[in-house]
Amino acid sequence: MRTIAITGIGELTTNDAARFGGDLGILRDAALVVEDGRIAWIGPTTRAPATDRRLDVDGRAVIPGLVDAHTHLVFAGDRSQEFVARMAGAAYDGRGILETVEATRAASTAHLSTRLRHSMAELRRQGTTTVEIKSGYGLDLANETRLLRIAGAFTSETTFLGGHAIPVEYRRHRDAYIELVSGDMLRVCAPLARWADVFCEPHSPHALREDEARLVLTRAKDAGLGVRVHGCQLGEGPGAELAVELGAASLDHATHLRDSDADLLADAAPEGGPVVTLLPLVEFATRQPFPDARRLLDRGVHVALASDCNPGTNASSSLPLAMALAVRHMGMTPEQALRGATVEAARSLRRDDIGRLTVGAAADLALVDAPSYLHIFYRPGVPLVSALDVADTPGGG
Ligand code: NIG
Ligand code: FE
Repeated sequence: MRTIAITGIGELTTNDAARFGGDLGILRDAALVVEDGRIAWIGPTTRAPATDRRLDVDGRAVIPGLVDAHTHLVFAGDRSQEFVARMAGAAYDGRGILETVEATRAASTAHLSTRLRHSMAELRRQGTTTVEIKSGYGLDLANETRLLRIAGAFTSETTFLGGHAIPVEYRRHRDAYIELVSGDMLRVCAPLARWADVFCEPHSPHALREDEARLVLTRAKDAGLGVRVHGCQLGEGPGAELAVELGAASLDHATHLRDSDADLLADAAPEGGPVVTLLPLVEFATRQPFPDARRLLDRGVHVALASDCNPGTNASSSLPLAMALAVRHMGMTPEQALRGATVEAARSLRRDDIGRLTVGAAADLALVDAPSYLHIFYRPGVPLVSALDVADTPGGG
């Protein structure tokens, strides 16, 4: 088996606080050895064992590959005009989802796959090495299965989002659509997905209501899927209660949380309650107030950060920018934001093999072209972070 040593790491953030101390388990002048896609050794560069290949990163920082646990990347069409209208004062109400559904249904599988391949490369260039991908722009049986198959070629973290919106053809028959999503559609989609998600939002006529969301997610759990919830995005609503009630792995958005929601999430946290996945790029691109992460973190709630890259509410794939916004506007420390986009995002996917650099974990690494991960926040918008392609690097094994 071929081995490669990454040496000369000025600052290695492992998220292994138990071994290396601090909040982030930082080791300086470090090296790590990768064997067969897994981390085989971590220690000081001066003690790095002999390997087949060596890659010296010349004092740069290395962090765990970023984990983007919320994206909608399989779609066709373009809604940049909707963004322009919002910047001029228009509000987001979810109607644009149906526009993307129309464009996506009309697109060829080759077109959707090619676009997704480009998006995945774009994410990697910004340090993201694990991506959750939702369906949700098909909203019929043939297209939801098609989108999940396309997504499944790129990630094992696939999410069935048939409960994204009520499609136009069911506008006057919502119940029939909910019956389809939680019945036949779920049956054919469940084998193609690890998760189910819903857009539960009383402030959008297009999204699911509480009882509809509960039915879809309950049946999804019965079908063996883990559940996630888009909730409390456009105003206060039942999303947090529902996420706790159903044992969701994650409550996403949480832009508008009541004190009672925060209480509920804090009470559930010690028993493995939902991670709250905040999506600051959405607040940025929809002119919503940024959520208060500190209020949750101070009470022991696990907070993750994700991009929510999608054609409507945020088209940026940049987790580093999301992290910078979280520190600038949401009361997170740089340590919390780094953890939010790595180990806490991994927790929201119920994974412990990613988001941290420990012996035996996946060798998913991101290089920061700076002496410290702090430059992600200090120099926002500068493309400092990129996934480290251990197998493809010159001198890589
Ligand atoms: O996470 N809120 C619902 N779904 C997406 C936006 C989808 C769209 O507008 O196309 C979100 O924000
Ligand atoms: Fe989303």
